[in-house]
Amino acid sequence: MGLHYGFHINRFLTETTGSILGMVGARQTIAIQKQYLKDSKHKIPLLFMTDVIHGYRTIFPSPLGLACSWSPELIEQTAAVAAKEASVSGVHLTFSPMADLVRDCRWGRVVESTGEDPYLNSLYASAFVRGYQGDDVSAPYKIASCVKHFAGYGAAESGKDYNTTDISEYQLRNFYFPAFKAAIDSGCKMVMPGFNALNGIPCTANPWLIQDILREEWKFTDPVITDCTATYELTAHGLCASNKEAAQAAINTGMDIEMVSTTFFEEGENLAAEGKVSMQTIDAAVERILRLKDELGLFENPYKDADPVAEEKIHLCKEHRALARESAAKSVVLLKNEHHVLPLHKNEKIALIGPYADNKNLLDIWKCQGKEEECVTLLEGLRDRIQVFYAEGCALEENPAISYEEVHTVDRDTSCDAACLNSYDAAVSDCDKIILALGEPASWSGEAGSRAHITLPKKQLELLKRLSASGKPVITVIFSGRPLELSEAAAASTALLQAWLPGTEGGNGIADVLTGTSLPEGRLTISFPRTVGQLPLYYNALPTGRPKKSDSITERFSSGYIDELNSPLYPFGYGLTYTTFQYSGIRLSDKVIKEGGTIEAAITLTNTGTFPGTETVQLYLRDLAGAYSRPVKMLKGFQKVFLSPGESRTVDFTISAEMLQYDIPGHGMTLEPGDFQLFIGVDSTTANLAEFTLVKTRES
Ligand code: BGC
Repeated sequence: MGLHYGFHINRFLTETTGSILGMVGARQTIAIQKQYLKDSKHKIPLLFMTDVIHGYRTIFPSPLGLACSWSPELIEQTAAVAAKEASVSGVHLTFSPMADLVRDCRWGRVVESTGEDPYLNSLYASAFVRGYQGDDVSAPYKIASCVKHFAGYGAAESGKDYNTTDISEYQLRNFYFPAFKAAIDSGCKMVMPGFNALNGIPCTANPWLIQDILREEWKFTDPVITDCTATYELTAHGLCASNKEAAQAAINTGMDIEMVSTTFFEEGENLAAEGKVSMQTIDAAVERILRLKDELGLFENPYKDADPVAEEKIHLCKEHRALARESAAKSVVLLKNEHHVLPLHKNEKIALIGPYADNKNLLDIWKCQGKEEECVTLLEGLRDRIQVFYAEGCALEENPAISYEEVHTVDRDTSCDAACLNSYDAAVSDCDKIILALGEPASWSGEAGSRAHITLPKKQLELLKRLSASGKPVITVIFSGRPLELSEAAAASTALLQAWLPGTEGGNGIADVLTGTSLPEGRLTISFPRTVGQLPLYYNALPTGRPKKSDSITERFSSGYIDELNSPLYPFGYGLTYTTFQYSGIRLSDKVIKEGGTIEAAITLTNTGTFPGTETVQLYLRDLAGAYSRPVKMLKGFQKVFLSPGESRTVDFTISAEMLQYDIPGHGMTLEPGDFQLFIGVDSTTANLAEFTLVKTRES
């Protein structure tokens, strides 16, 4: 049974603590471990755990950005680099991956997620785990991983962090659970429950979630750690009347380690003496923790890879920076590109303007040991490659230490001062194209970073409109942790790019895309709303009894709004390239698929444009009738296909009966015979479809 502490070592900690939170650095961790092993009675090495979320010193794009690469291989590589940098600094375990499915971008933690799709989230959760852990967590440069926040935390009501969630078992099993299960099946060594109450019971003390699902059904045998102070919070949730009751509930639910709060230490002995917690429960928890320490090899070498010399050599080395640059480029999503304004040409004169043009605020709040001063800004990325004139102008970025007054003052004060405007006008008058770097500060997303207004600051939008009125093409680059409402920005821009929080090499990666050195291939893994009133918004929704015949506001008595379209501004799977692709109709090898069988689906893809490009060919399915209403579309596969101009290729997918199953509460994975639609196309709105029928063997 463990206490996970966030402070320096002292006598109290030596007697009570089994792991340390957030303490990193080879020298410090070695010194603390040494002292601890000398002083402690049992000589059981400490476990050093911290949040290595998307890099340790070399910071990759935020997870939502990385996810837009549609490349589990890339995510695995970034996680392996993060593990290597962390391990030499003495880290044994990271609180990653975050496998929370998200549907509401008011919630600040969408930045830490990989998006709204259970299939992609599962691929990514596994990729993170493989990258951190490899085949053997005791191997050099490997660290253990902890999947979080089990479960449903991403469905926080109204997008407010820590808020309650109410999710049916059908939804949990088919949308919210799969990525957790995938992480666990990939060998993930720890689970952290969410802060949220799930269907009335906080996850930290939810026996159905932890005992029935995690332990019994999924056979997870490694430790479970509470989230930070989550045991204390059981009283605030109204589940427990005192810290003692909270400790009892958490321990009996199966929490093995308590993070930061100290109720296990304070109340554990009494609870055991009173028979409220059994020795068997405590022994089982202790065994799980000891086994993890053993698997990490800490009993043989309590310092594992911690090494100050290796830190110097490995942190932020050339190869790691190169991967950060590649991943920044691959996470950029090109949302609009009118008149082929991109890529830029060498002889063009570019005016670079805006609060993120030369801004090193490119890391999110999980920047770990990443340093702003080590980040490459957009200006630095562009400077030596094209003729770029930077108009410094006025500060349009609000103070990241946001207050209600600040946000709302900004809304009222939409004017820039005259000197700024003059400097912009001068730059613009002499340029061929404008690059305008806008966005929201990193601190406006992340934990406790929920927003009710997911707009660009008004001053920024005013500036965009003013520049757009100049008649020069405006290429707007958005830096943000979450999808913002971009309708107005899109309308005023000739080209629009979503650059997320792109990490240490952000400026270089984005410049690579702008100049065409890297071809844009990012695709959204989260829907971009037209307005906050559409949230929660996600492509894989269940149909309604009154679906809209078309995406219009005039059709009454069908499911939708009278003042806004149902469709997102940019849908799941969306993203442009510098070329155009044409899809043929779908060819099916058979119209019938038998239980246990497969069929083949193929299309011909042609690059019909003048640029080479990578198309992300997406496969979706719809189950037309079943015991439960099934989503209007579900991603079931994708392939990235590189084609030169004029080139064609056949792209085929194997559809197995297994892919058609879903999890019916009380029955498990179930195959229901009937008709299915299959879509292969450019994004989740594709109408390129074919139909087939699933038959049970005995019917065939
Ligand atoms: C977050 C977790 C994180 C933990 C430790 C909590 O506030 O919810 O995601 O792992 O802190 O830093």
